[in-house]
Amino acid sequence: MCGIIGYLGSRDATSILIDGLRRLEYRGYDSAGVAVLERTGVQSVVKRAARVETLVEALQERMPEGRLGIGHTRWATHGRPTQVNAHPHTDCRGRISVVHNGIIENFEELRAELRRAGHRFASDTDTEVVPHLIEEYYRGDFLAAVRQALARIRGAYALVMFCLDDPELLVGARLNAPLVVGLGEGEYFIASDIAALLPYTRKVLVLGEGEIAAVTPLGASVTALDGMPAPTRVLHVSWDTEQAERGGHPHFMLKEIMETPEAAANALRGRLDDQGRVHFAELELPDERLQGLAEVRLLGMGTSRHAAMVGEQLIEAWAGLPARAQDASEFRYRPALVGPDTLVVAVTQSGETADTIVALRQARQQESATVAVTNVVGSTIAREADGVIYLHSGPEIGVASTKTLVAHLVSLGLLALRLGELRGVADRRQGLVRELRELPALIRQVLDDGPRLAELARRYAGYRNFLFVGRGLGHPVALEGALKLKEISYLHAEGTSGGELKHGPIALLDRDTPVVAVCTEGPSWEKLLNNVHEVAVRGAPVLALVPRGERALADVATDVLELPRSGELGSAVLATVALQLFAYHVAVGLGRDVDRPRNLAKSVTVE
Ligand code: F6R
Repeated sequence: MCGIIGYLGSRDATSILIDGLRRLEYRGYDSAGVAVLERTGVQSVVKRAARVETLVEALQERMPEGRLGIGHTRWATHGRPTQVNAHPHTDCRGRISVVHNGIIENFEELRAELRRAGHRFASDTDTEVVPHLIEEYYRGDFLAAVRQALARIRGAYALVMFCLDDPELLVGARLNAPLVVGLGEGEYFIASDIAALLPYTRKVLVLGEGEIAAVTPLGASVTALDGMPAPTRVLHVSWDTEQAERGGHPHFMLKEIMETPEAAANALRGRLDDQGRVHFAELELPDERLQGLAEVRLLGMGTSRHAAMVGEQLIEAWAGLPARAQDASEFRYRPALVGPDTLVVAVTQSGETADTIVALRQARQQESATVAVTNVVGSTIAREADGVIYLHSGPEIGVASTKTLVAHLVSLGLLALRLGELRGVADRRQGLVRELRELPALIRQVLDDGPRLAELARRYAGYRNFLFVGRGLGHPVALEGALKLKEISYLHAEGTSGGELKHGPIALLDRDTPVVAVCTEGPSWEKLLNNVHEVAVRGAPVLALVPRGERALADVATDVLELPRSGELGSAVLATVALQLFAYHVAVGLGRDVDRPRNLAKSVTVE
């Protein structure tokens, strides 16, 4: 999720691009760059593998002077955050410049084809195939070449680009990534979001999926990929800057929860082929090594440890391989009984959690194979592990992990499928693949139920203690539901497995201690229903999350929240999203600072 901005008008493009990039920096901040078509007819490209202010220092040495330009602030997906990998990217002759947000799934295939045709590539990015592909098709009509190039691209993109030969044309295109055109007085902007445009215009044209905007000094025209005119939607925006950064939502946490369908889709994108086989571009461990594994350890902290607990169950069930999730901070102080036939998976959003780093190093000393599942390209853990699975979720700004947890669950599901594939475990495979593919749409249905969750949260926000219960994959979901609630609302919440309930936690229950029962589908469903009966007869209010249409708890639970039906992993993901929204609304109702809860940091870099 990068920030992009383009400008065409009569003012100094460089200063407008810098201003836009500063406003977009929250979308990505590992590198930044601009390309400006100078008055002299040459193009200046300046980039830095650093924050926008470092780019500004470099530009101040010599400000490119022009009226047309594009800028980018990057959150790396393919290729480490380095200066060559920073955007804009150009074609072989340096005449076409492109900035991109998204993931081009078939970039390796396109790059190989373009190399055979004589194109030379400077970076490791997926984006760089775009200017070269346009160059390949360019016969004097830039827009036509863009259309031909886009027809070859699979994946997600918001692109802004220009060509030296067409100094009065700025082109934007979008597919599965947002892009808006700002309509000023005799000047035009194209940006990844409205925040970048606010000081200049509030008249915004929102591009639809698969649409291309061609902007000239005479105006903006929008067409579909095939060149047919598309209906235009012009909005008048009344947001202030902060609201715009949050996409109009009151908090980043809510914005990020709403981005979960996209995060799940990004984690899947390009990784499942038509036969349902799993491919991870950056998982550089040879198949033979993975085939010879005797066990898997998954290490993480907090929410990531809960993801690891889900991963543990999936790897055992889907790959038939013994697996164990561990608290990374405990792993490092115990005898490291892992060896070359152990796969150690570091589960970490930031890639910088000190406990997880140290545990990973310890596993490496024991010669275990190591994989990082992380959101941050080039982070310490991504660099030190043998292989990486990136989440591709874009930056997460709210301190509480939300969309990246779902991306972790999806990625660990894919890893379990991959290990199963290598071990010849084929049963249920097609069903599991279908379950994963359906997830983004089902998550959207849960988000559509937001008002109901807000109403439930209002009713439960008056309690001071909560118990979350689940079994199977619902157990880590219950632990996570409790963690999310306590960290942002400061209410006391505990999670337990249904089996453990009678061994202690049930003593806590009375009419002032509600139970949130995560009744996800799975082999222990009947047992969980018994648990709900047990807590209800003790007078505890029960909020039960059940599959849609399920009536078994209708007369037992105080409230029932129905979730779309899915498989075991799908149900766990959907319940996770519902509990995130529940915690969010409870915390907002109590007036908490949900994006920056007290005493917590986004990345815990000390042990
Ligand atoms: C809770 C939360 C934390 C993190 C934990 C590990 O919402 O975000 O519990 O999950 O600090 O962080 P990462 O995943 O960056 O290793």
